[in-house]
Amino acid sequence: MRLLVTGGAGFIGSNFVRYWCEAHPEDNVVVLDALTYAGCRESLSEVEDKIDFIHGDMGDKVLVEQVLREHRIDVVVNFAAESHNSLAIIDPQRFFNTNVMSTLGLLDACRSVGVARLHHVSTCEVYGDLALDSNDSFNEASPYRPRTPYNASKAASDHAVRSYYYTYGLPISITNCANNYGPYQFPEKVIPLFATNALDDLPLPLYSSKDNKREWIHVLDHARAIDMVIDNGEVGETYHVGTELERSVEELADQILSILNKPSSLKTIVPDRPSHDRRYLLDSSKIRGALGWEPIYDFQSGLEDTVRWYRDNRAWWEPLKKRAPVDESGVLWSERKS
Ligand SMILES: NC(=O)c1ccc[n+]([C@@H]2O[C@H](COP(=O)([O-])OP(=O)(O)OC[C@H]3O[C@@H](n4cnc5c(N)ncnc54)[C@H](O)[C@@H]3O)[C@@H](O)[C@H]2O)c1
Repeated sequence: MRLLVTGGAGFIGSNFVRYWCEAHPEDNVVVLDALTYAGCRESLSEVEDKIDFIHGDMGDKVLVEQVLREHRIDVVVNFAAESHNSLAIIDPQRFFNTNVMSTLGLLDACRSVGVARLHHVSTCEVYGDLALDSNDSFNEASPYRPRTPYNASKAASDHAVRSYYYTYGLPISITNCANNYGPYQFPEKVIPLFATNALDDLPLPLYSSKDNKREWIHVLDHARAIDMVIDNGEVGETYHVGTELERSVEELADQILSILNKPSSLKTIVPDRPSHDRRYLLDSSKIRGALGWEPIYDFQSGLEDTVRWYRDNRAWWEPLKKRAPVDESGVLWSERKS
């Protein structure tokens, strides 16, 4: 198979590329990435000699058409996005430009050249949030009720992708996934932020909504789910990928501090982010029943391995931390400049 991975220098994309090169060594993999502040070429260093890397924007239709033709691409997997909720509050335009308008460029290129599949990677966050004590979960038929600019831009991109299936017959599939953890995640996101701060004895900034919960999945369980959807998933279908494993932000902080043997006094409450979703939980019975996917990573040992990875790979995250565009530590949101 000839695969184009957009956003392959990001967190999930780079883990997916490493996973794919190992699981399918006979395949050709091309990565297209705009290398925004969140993209990191070094995240692909282990597979550099096995892939073709192209520095470019998925919204550049002419470039993407050329890549699809020259590399005779069969399948496109789209991870490219602006992905940080906090940055979206400060700079929403950037999120709609990338997640909606650039996705349209990719869709148009796929439509004009023709591909066997465009798989689009989405999030549980398009559905809005759940009460902390509810027994509900989101299934693939749940209505989209996004509440933040990031979530709304991801919802819009899902709608655009589906519209190209219904209108032009573009063979698409979509996965909406829970919160991922693992190596190579940009240190603005909560698990690497807490781990790297704790390693340096810096405060762990917990939003005042510290009881908010997230459903956690190891990034390689996500990668395997996408592989199974590309292989056996129905064209035009959406599949949820979740574990039902929930942790509150404070529980996460406690677990990370305990793994690193650091004091709980590092936990520091900071003002909450506007429209901060309380909780998401995915009903992933469809992918489990139809494709036989199950998560295999245990959260405690997966988190321990992940925290150890950040401990052992300071050279990877230290330069990234300096270029993080949002400071999460205690500045009032109303005072932040765009
Ligand atoms: N991280 C999670 O927990 C999670 C959960 C569910 C879904 N998702 C989705 O998975 C995808 C990947 O998330 P991530 O956490 O790896 O994000 P990330 O921010 O780590 O990586 C995004 C990558 O996309 C690249 N990019 C941005 N704009 C581009 C453009 N116009 N053209 C080409 N490349 C571009 C960036 O340079 C970066 O390498 C996103 O669509 C995100 O919404 C993430």
